[in-house]
Amino acid sequence: MRDELRFIVLDGVEGCGKSTQIERLAAALREAGEDPVVTHEPGGTPVGEAIRSVLLSPEYPQMTVLTEILLFCASRAQHVQQVIIPALDEGSRVLCDRFSAATFAYQGYAGGGGAEMVEQLDARATGGLAPDLTIILDLPAEEGLRRKFGEQWREASALGDRIEQNDAEYHRLVREGFLAYADRCSERTAVIDADREPDEVFAELAGLLEL
Ligand code: TMP
Repeated sequence: MRDELRFIVLDGVEGCGKSTQIERLAAALREAGEDPVVTHEPGGTPVGEAIRSVLLSPEYPQMTVLTEILLFCASRAQHVQQVIIPALDEGSRVLCDRFSAATFAYQGYAGGGGAEMVEQLDARATGGLAPDLTIILDLPAEEGLRRKFGEQWREASALGDRIEQNDAEYHRLVREGFLAYADRCSERTAVIDADREPDEVFAELAGLLEL
C-alpha cells in the first residue's frame, strides 16, 4: 500500500458500497500486518454519535441546511481532535467512511447551502486536516437507492433516515455534488465506477492504493 496515504476516506451516494469496501480494505491491511483505525462520520466518538442521532432522526423534518452543516461539522471537529489526529500521530493509518466531501455534496450542493459556506465551516472543523485521498464510489443515485431499499426505493421517503428521505432529485444532485468535489479537489480525490460487482470495485481500489 502506498505509504504516503495515511488518511483515506471513502464516500459516495447512498448504497454506493463504501462500507463494504472499507471493511475489505481494512481486512487486506490487517493481513499485511497493519492495524488501521476504521471510523465513520457522522459519529466516530460518543459526542459524534449523539449528534448523528439528532441529524438522522426523522423526528426533525424542519432542520435547516445551515443547522445540518453546523452539526456535521461539530461531529467532525470532535472526531478530528479525539480520534483522527491521535491515530495519525501514533502512526496508524486511518480509514474513514465519509468526511468533508459528503458535506460538500449533500449540504453544499444538493441542499443548496453553497460550496463557500461548507468549505469555511469545514475548514474550522478540521483545523485544515485534509484526507490524503478521498475515493468517491460513483454510481447513479437511483441504483444506489435500489441497492439499499430494493424495488421499493421510490418510497425511500417513507423508509430511510431523515437524509435518505429526501427525494430522488436530491440524491441525483448529491451524485453531481460528489463529482463536482472531485473536480475541485482533483489532486486528493479519485473517482471509481461503483456500478459493478463488489469484487471488481475492490480490484480497482486495490490497484489505486497499490495494495
Ligand atoms: P451513512 O449512511 O453513510 O452512515 O451516512 C449517514 C447519512 O449522513 C447519509 O445519508 C449521508 C449523510 N451525510 C451528510 O448529509 N453530510 C455529511 O457531511 C456526512 C458525513 C453524512
